[in-house]
Amino acid sequence: MEIFNAMLLLIAFIAVISTASADKQTYIVRMDKTKITNNYNSLANSKPWHQAVLDSLADDVSSQEGTPPELLYSYETAFFGFAVKLSRKQLESLKKMDGFMYAVPDKMLSLHTTRSPLFLGLQGKKGLWGSSNLKSDVIIGVVDSGIWPEHVSFQDRGLPPVPKRWRGACEKGTRFSPWNCNKKLIGARYFYGGYLATGGRINETEEYLSARDASGHGTHTASTAAGDFVEHANFFGLANGSAAGMRYTARIAAYKVCWPPGCTSVDILTAMVKAIEDGVDVLTLSLGSISEAEPYYQDYLAIASYYAFKSGIFVAFSAGNSGPEAYTAVNTAPWIMTVAASTMDRSFPAIVKLGNGQTFEGSSVHTGKALKSLSIVYGRTAGGSGAEYCFPNSLNPKLVKGKIVICEQGGFMKPVESGEQVKLAGGAGMLIMTPEGEDLATDAHILPAAMLRALASKAVLKYVNSTKAPKASMIFKGTTYGNRAPKVAAFSSRGPNLVGPDVTKPDVTAPGVNILAAWPAETSPSTLNSDKRRVLFNILSGTSMSCPHVSGIAALIKSKHKDWSPAAIKSALMTTAYTIDNRGKPLADLGLYGLASPFSIGSGHVDPIKASDPGLIYNITAEDYINYLCSLKYNVSQIALFEEGFLSCPMEAASMQPGDLNYPSFAVNFKRKAHNVTVTYKRTVTNVGIPRSTYKVSVEVPKGVSVTVRPKVLSFKKLNEEVSYKVSFTGLSRKKTAASSSFGSLVWVSGKHRVRSPIAVTWK
Ligand SMILES: *[C@@H]1O[C@H](CO)[C@@H](O)[C@H](O)[C@H]1NC(C)=O
Ligand SMILES: *[C@@H]1O[C@H](CO)[C@@H](O)[C@H](O)[C@H]1NC(C)=O
Ligand SMILES: *[C@@H]1O[C@H](CO)[C@@H](O)[C@H](O)[C@H]1NC(C)=O
Ligand SMILES: *[C@@H]1O[C@H](CO)[C@@H](O)[C@H](O)[C@H]1NC(C)=O
Ligand SMILES: *[C@@H]1O[C@H](CO)[C@@H](O)[C@H](O)[C@H]1NC(C)=O
Ligand SMILES: *[C@@H]1O[C@H](CO)[C@@H](O)[C@H](O)[C@H]1NC(C)=O
Repeated sequence: MEIFNAMLLLIAFIAVISTASADKQTYIVRMDKTKITNNYNSLANSKPWHQAVLDSLADDVSSQEGTPPELLYSYETAFFGFAVKLSRKQLESLKKMDGFMYAVPDKMLSLHTTRSPLFLGLQGKKGLWGSSNLKSDVIIGVVDSGIWPEHVSFQDRGLPPVPKRWRGACEKGTRFSPWNCNKKLIGARYFYGGYLATGGRINETEEYLSARDASGHGTHTASTAAGDFVEHANFFGLANGSAAGMRYTARIAAYKVCWPPGCTSVDILTAMVKAIEDGVDVLTLSLGSISEAEPYYQDYLAIASYYAFKSGIFVAFSAGNSGPEAYTAVNTAPWIMTVAASTMDRSFPAIVKLGNGQTFEGSSVHTGKALKSLSIVYGRTAGGSGAEYCFPNSLNPKLVKGKIVICEQGGFMKPVESGEQVKLAGGAGMLIMTPEGEDLATDAHILPAAMLRALASKAVLKYVNSTKAPKASMIFKGTTYGNRAPKVAAFSSRGPNLVGPDVTKPDVTAPGVNILAAWPAETSPSTLNSDKRRVLFNILSGTSMSCPHVSGIAALIKSKHKDWSPAAIKSALMTTAYTIDNRGKPLADLGLYGLASPFSIGSGHVDPIKASDPGLIYNITAEDYINYLCSLKYNVSQIALFEEGFLSCPMEAASMQPGDLNYPSFAVNFKRKAHNVTVTYKRTVTNVGIPRSTYKVSVEVPKGVSVTVRPKVLSFKKLNEEVSYKVSFTGLSRKKTAASSSFGSLVWVSGKHRVRSPIAVTWK
């Protein structure tokens, strides 16, 4: 296949979008170039060609339609097609045209909203951070809400010139000029055609029509992936220490696609295709759908990630923040690294003592004085309808003044917005109740506030409910270290994988709770307009924060192993991930009150040092992925969305099961009543460790199955040698009480190398 030398044209799109076109929708349309029979194909490039196709469509149906179709973006070589806004009738006419292949509707996605290098074992400019590994030039493309270019984390001291192969640009826009880029931030682009087509507007008093970041999210994620080393980074003195991205000498290219209401798949696709053309090595995306996952052929994030994979680019996405319920993970295509979120050993405790003597540890980044015993008000004792959630205008200042107000989480209120209401009503402090899970993520509240875990929240509500004059005091303890960690966050989205059940998701977990990273100079830490504080670093939580950790580590591995494929880097990160915490116990789950499983942490917590020397890797080629799509029974036109000109599935794919994909983990699915049913999967490992080595298998057998591995010993004589093995899983008779899943692992061991794959068995 040709290289993805995509020529991309952002159509000047300043036209006023009338709200009368509300029945129109944006689609990403694929055309088969060879089947367009008219004479447009004599035109030099695709844009006029696409425009001519749409003009003919307009002539055809414009009599019944108000406005002609609007061409938003034109795509040329990564794939042939365009993004267009049109009516239902216009779409029907387009479908009848020669060469029409597929139209996928655009959708609105959302952001999945420093101590971490130390916690990950990266410290002191040695080891992987040693100078020999830092000379190479890895470019990380951050597709997000833009960047604050002047931030100290993006200074370029000591960096060599921008790599010659870089083809990106530093685009001009509001308060952004080419001079805002340097040898650290080497590219900045912005995409808003899809957003405007939704009827969205850019209010220039709140947002910049440029790559400049107004929301803070993109600045935070970019600095986590590749921010420069900054001493004494802190948030009002909390979390004080060195801040550095995972790969702090890597270059950053920012692609702004997210605007206040979210990010459209059309803008994200366009940015990803452009980033591939610009020459990034790693793509990091902390965003995605919050609704149900779709087949990969309808998911342009998955399709564009496949193009990136084919160009040798490692792609990481956040798994989402919809946990702890099962089947909530998004961005689950097998060529994507899907990242869950877990805690570090650092916390910000706030001690809440109730009038009855009960004491709870919550969390807070408030740094002021303690609140001595004050009355608690909640719901009816705090105001009118909605007062339990501290909705706007629900709190009665007469009832609230000088008191501690309980706010439940609910509606569309963010905790910081509840805090703003309490402050407006004169409250002295706030207790935020958590409906489920034992997470202690903090927010930059504008008043003394503590977040309580679900069990503590229940106990506090019970006390308040049963007491005439409830009281509480609050003490803020600052920063503590050495807590049991990591634990997977309750909010972190979970598997099994709804779209491709034969591939376990998420893949790995990384720090995503209370992460300190860079923040725009003109955005308040709470993002509230009423908050006049300004900070250099801010503390956020989400799989949005864990994803760039993994992208940065991937860049680190890429700089050490320049010839490794994205699949090899992914395998290294997965097979060396750990599942035992800093107390020597299995990782805990803050959402489900038990142990973490492959459905919450995938293969485990990333370990950058071990991942740089994995011993063996499970490699996957583009052809393997196409065979996998064949095994999912996607049809030819669906697979052609990934691979232009695709004609038919190869013979060998006919006998392939989706579970045969050479993935570094195992998903085994049995029917509920399966008895003595066996599935056998094939795997091939490549030796990237010691030339002459022998690996022995060690299996932790999941309950309810038996596992057979053939052969049990793998011998290698040289580097890059490939050896295959087969593993059979037999579902024994299901006990009535057995859970619908069980877990184990398969480990190849040779000396210090342990190449581990989790096994997740599901009965359904
Ligand atoms: C833009 O935002 C400002 C500040 O929030 C607001 O006062 C103004 O009304 C907005 N303008 C438009 C056209 O929505
Ligand atoms: C952060 O720590 C450094 C060294 O330990 C100290 O000099 C500095 O004052 C601290 N900063 C804050 C804001 O606490
Ligand atoms: C509070 O008490 C009422 C009546 O006794 C009960 O219905 C309600 O469920 C209680 N709420 C909580 C949070 O305990
Ligand atoms: C993995 O496969 C790719 C081809 O898809 C190849 O270029 C690469 O050398 C292989 N091995 C590693 C370790 O990446
Ligand atoms: C593939 O499936 C889609 C949706 O069911 C259908 O519209 C299309 O015609 C099919 N293509 C082929 C080549 O069968
Ligand atoms: C399971 O099936 C295999 C062959 O399909 C048979 O040899 C074996 O006896 C069966 N075992 C049980 C416990 O039913």
